Amino acid sequence: MTLRSGMLDRLAAMRGRPLAEDVADAMTVVPRHVFVPEAPIEEAYGLGAVVTHWDEQGVPTSSASAPGTVAGMLEQAQVRPGQRVLEVGAGTGYNAALLAHLVGPSGSVTTIEYDPEVAEAARTHLTAHGADRVRVVTGDGTLGAAEDGPFDRILVTAGAWDVAPAWVEQLAPDGRVVLPLRLRGLTRVVAFERSGTGLRSVSVVEDGFIPMKGIRAMPEKNVPLGTGPDLTLRIDDAQPIDRALLEALDSEPTLEWTDVVAPWAWTPEQDFWLATLPGFCRVFVNAEAVAAGRIPRAKDPWGAWGVYSGGSLAYMVARQTGGTDEMPMLQVGACGFGPDGADLARRLADRARAWQEQTADGVEVTIEARSPASVPLHGEDGALLVVNKVDHVFVVTAVGAATSVEA
Ligand SMILES: C[S@@+](CC[C@H](N)C(=O)[O-])C[C@H]1O[C@@H](n2cnc3c(N)ncnc32)[C@H](O)[C@@H]1O
Repeated sequence: MTLRSGMLDRLAAMRGRPLAEDVADAMTVVPRHVFVPEAPIEEAYGLGAVVTHWDEQGVPTSSASAPGTVAGMLEQAQVRPGQRVLEVGAGTGYNAALLAHLVGPSGSVTTIEYDPEVAEAARTHLTAHGADRVRVVTGDGTLGAAEDGPFDRILVTAGAWDVAPAWVEQLAPDGRVVLPLRLRGLTRVVAFERSGTGLRSVSVVEDGFIPMKGIRAMPEKNVPLGTGPDLTLRIDDAQPIDRALLEALDSEPTLEWTDVVAPWAWTPEQDFWLATLPGFCRVFVNAEAVAAGRIPRAKDPWGAWGVYSGGSLAYMVARQTGGTDEMPMLQVGACGFGPDGADLARRLADRARAWQEQTADGVEVTIEARSPASVPLHGEDGALLVVNKVDHVFVVTAVGAATSVEA
């Protein structure tokens, strides 16, 4: 077994299904280690992202994305021979090489990289692999590359906060743009096609990405609370906070349990129900503060969903009610701090209950990107969530949902 086929076998086992045939073929042909020459060979063919660049604080700024992420995006994009493709975020050049294989000699690939040093390395790797036909442009990918368009496919491999107008303008009439989109702190890889004057999703997949740099960068804000800090709030869109919030952890916590039980895993649709609440945020609870009994454990160690208002906050918690060690069943609840902590905890718990009631028969989430002028100011009938951004208004609809909330 070669390193490449071993990686694909482990990937298929992890996902519980084989990769699309054309994507598996491309990942078999393109050697990943050529694109991450400094990584040990077992890391190059592991299932994790290979980080290649960091900022001064040690935060990753460029990587070869995890093979599962790469394969998932390519499956969503459905790239075909002969197509013109634009990639935003060349990184190591690995994905561009896969794209070049998928479009074949009659197609074209342009990839844009913001960081000149990273772009130069991508060129070197692509040449070493023999994919010289890929054009690597140094610049801000949110401006696109009009000279090489229109594009049948646009793949964005850095986390976006909005759909850049250039991507819509440079997309062919029946094209597809696939991008990791952050909506109220939730990141979803969305495959969009044109629909009327806007875009409508054909698939929505949960994943995480290195955030976009440049003129459309929209950093999140971290707010540390308590000594340690015991808890960090991550707030999207740089929303303001009340100074009283810094004292919230001085109060005793209030717990509210629901009868909602879910398997340990992501509950990606439930996130959209919680995101309808004003003050929605992500909460990272310090494991040492939990061990010392200062604060209840959050539902998800990688960041639980929460809400804040004035000097109060609440976040999701969970306790095991059954299942196995590998896949426990979790009862979901919420924990609040501060003068309105109990109320905020109840609001979170109520949204989890609403999710359970409204999705008992399954649910499908659809995201539309519309021009701001086309969306009524007071929301949209049947929408679960309406999020106003600069270039687009995003309307999230979930079949089975009845709530309409504007954020
Ligand atoms: C996860 S890495 C991309 C992985 C890459 N596709 C690969 O196969 O190795 C994200 C890349 O996007 C780049 N990036 C971030 N913002 C950008 C922007 N506005 N325009 C172009 N590239 C950008 C980062 O510098 C980083 O190299």
